[in-house]
Amino acid sequence: MNLRPARKESHDSPATATTVADPTHGAQHVAIIMDGNGRWAKKKHLPRALGHKKGVEAVRNIVRAAGEMGINVLTLYAFSSENWSRPEDEISDLMGLLRQYIQSDIEEFVENGIKLKVIGNYKALEPDIVKLIEDALDRTAGNDRMVLAIALNYGAQDEIVRAMQNVAQAVKRGELTPEQIAPEHLNEALDTADLPPLDLLIRTSGEIRLSNFLLWQAAYSELYFTDVLWPDFDKRELQRALKSFGDRQRRFGGR
Ligand code: FPP
Repeated sequence: MNLRPARKESHDSPATATTVADPTHGAQHVAIIMDGNGRWAKKKHLPRALGHKKGVEAVRNIVRAAGEMGINVLTLYAFSSENWSRPEDEISDLMGLLRQYIQSDIEEFVENGIKLKVIGNYKALEPDIVKLIEDALDRTAGNDRMVLAIALNYGAQDEIVRAMQNVAQAVKRGELTPEQIAPEHLNEALDTADLPPLDLLIRTSGEIRLSNFLLWQAAYSELYFTDVLWPDFDKRELQRALKSFGDRQRRFGGR
């Protein structure tokens, strides 16, 4: 799937034609650990639920901004397989917000060429949410402007184990020997199999850890940590992260 838009050229004056800088700075696939909703609410003496609600507004803005900037794939960590240990009412708030978000934004995805994808074991969510997700996946399957991959009930170790189980089944069927197992086999069995390599992984709220997100895929990604709390993360902050990405020299283990 070729999702990369053509570079925009300025033709205002042929004599001085300049290439408008690529706002993505070459980042095709950007992922975000959206952290800090609770602290945002606490700082403002508001209930945690309002922090999450404001977090959804930030999601909406960043999805729009990423589409405008020409990012090909945006992967968002919305609910981890460890988030089930949160209080029941908070889980219920998060699920309610997810429900509302899909229902209210699906038309915008359809109109704006956004293809929805879900990584993680989303089938364990409540049946009505699974149905909403699967309808949205169907309705946006033909879109090719940007992929919005939402991580739901996602944990990287769980994803890697599921991928390993698939590879082990292939070995059991006699399709390959244990010695033939190569990184490509894992890549092809991961939830992200159809996505381009992860270029940039952003985490908001000042925490400096990966929290079981895209551990395999982040092997050569650039990491960007910001103190900005997720509800305050906007287009300008995304531009800042992409600029930082553009300023780095990626060597992928070479020199
Ligand atoms: C971290 O805040 C955020 C999450 C639990 C995941 C992100 C969820 C949203 C942005 C809302 C729902 C998303 C969608 C796509 C509908 P935190 O509670 O861990 O914050 P804290 O560390 O400050 O307490």
